Amino acid sequence: MPAPTLNRTQTAYLTHCGGCHGIEGVSGPTFVPMLRDTVGTFACSEEGRRYLVQVPGVSMSLIRDDQELADVMNFVLFTLGGKSTPATAKPYTAAEIHEWRQSPMSVTDFMERRAHILQNAVAACQTHKPT
Ligand code: HEC
Repeated sequence: MPAPTLNRTQTAYLTHCGGCHGIEGVSGPTFVPMLRDTVGTFACSEEGRRYLVQVPGVSMSLIRDDQELADVMNFVLFTLGGKSTPATAKPYTAAEIHEWRQSPMSVTDFMERRAHILQNAVAACQTHKPT
């Protein structure tokens, strides 16, 4: 039986993100946020989409190539995000990554900022739902 192989994007995620966030996006009971089936909620708002790129682990990632980081973020959003990702979510482009990673989030009240952005995104998700 051939060994399962990972593509370039999965390998990049594994190497640069998986150590903290887990191979499957499940980080366990730590202060590292869970990605699997949760991260997609942020994509309901533009602010949330931008937030996901501006968190320090992403914006300051050693993945310096913008397209490669866009691919990793799309893997995070559309694969790990699972059912939390809205059907209307737009894939990240290299240009967006390039622009947003120039301003990494550095705030002293990070968890408060995150809660606020998440709250707005949850509200936006409601209005995106097909009626
Ligand atoms: C050194 C550990 C570490 C690495 C490496 C890391 N992260 Fe993170 N990540 C965190 C922590 C901790 C947070 C919470 C915010 C903070 O304190 O910076 C976070 C936040 C996030 C968030 C926001 C999720 C939310 O619910 O708020 C996303 C998305 C994310 N990381 C994706 C990635 C991706 C993609 C990579 C690889 C390019 C990566 N991270 C690399 C530790 C890490």
